[in-house]
Amino acid sequence: MNRTETMLDVSGLGHRYGGPSGHQAIADLTFQVRSGELACIVGPSGCGKSTLLRSISGLIEPTSGEVKLKGSPVQGVPEDLAVVFQDYSRSLFPWLSVRSNVEFPLRSRGIGKAERRRRADEVLEWVGLSEAAKKYPWQLSGGMQQRVSIARALACRPALLLMDEPFASVDAQTRFELEDLLLRVRKQYDSTVLLVTHDIDESIYLADRVFVLSKSPANIVADLEVPLGDQRDQITTRESETFVHLRSEVARLLDVRTAAAPAAASDVDGSGGSTAQQWAEAERALHS
Ligand SMILES: Nc1ncnc2c1ncn2[C@@H]1O[C@H](COP(=O)(O)OP(=O)(O)O)[C@@H](O)[C@H]1O
Ligand SMILES: [Mg+2]
Repeated sequence: MNRTETMLDVSGLGHRYGGPSGHQAIADLTFQVRSGELACIVGPSGCGKSTLLRSISGLIEPTSGEVKLKGSPVQGVPEDLAVVFQDYSRSLFPWLSVRSNVEFPLRSRGIGKAERRRRADEVLEWVGLSEAAKKYPWQLSGGMQQRVSIARALACRPALLLMDEPFASVDAQTRFELEDLLLRVRKQYDSTVLLVTHDIDESIYLADRVFVLSKSPANIVADLEVPLGDQRDQITTRESETFVHLRSEVARLLDVRTAAAPAAASDVDGSGGSTAQQWAEAERALHS
């Protein structure tokens, strides 16, 4: 993979909900993500992170600006893209086994049965869920369900993996495990990832690069390289001088002492729109 190549090119992107007099969720966002990069976007709750990801993934049509994936404008939901949402309980199909959930998007991409099975088994092994292949999502813990969502996304071998607060609904210990899992699998698959989070520490721990967003309507207030290298560790990396310094810098940029939005708030209320229905819509859009 050519790491100087631009994978995602977002220019002047804006979205206003509800027509010309409606709510401007994002204003004028311009940034690029390079091939093979793991970029995090960090911003307060309600600043427009989910709106941004939905615009990039073609689930909503932005009211201004343009999104290009590998140089081509995004129209509708591109096949080259996979999304992992925060709400795992609503993004997996409860009536399908773990393996069938992972195979589901491959089926509509016209991939044959044997290859679907092979890919599903491979990614399930990578996320440590080989033993759970025949179980149903509701038989698994939250963390395991989110592993299934990650496996399903990776099985599509997406050019770009979008993640919307993927670890915000699990406990702290599981969150650490899933963060490390993401770091391992992105290396294995040489993935390009754009992850949004309201958690400053998480953004720094995971990223090669962090974009800091302002309060709504979101603007990019900083674009920071994260020189923490390839080998990261939940304890030693978080103690390192570079980490601590970056965390203070991002906190200052977000002005967390005066920000009204509580850091722990999340969009479990459904504004993230992360449902199986949305998946089904995306799948339909792909093949209509
Ligand atoms: N479907 C919608 N219709 C109208 N307003 C919306 C809709 N979805 C989100 N918003 C509003 O847009 C703003 C940004 O929302 P969102 O992108 O969900 O933020 P974040 O993901 O950063 O928490 C918020 O003020 C939210 O209330
Ligand atoms: Mg959100």
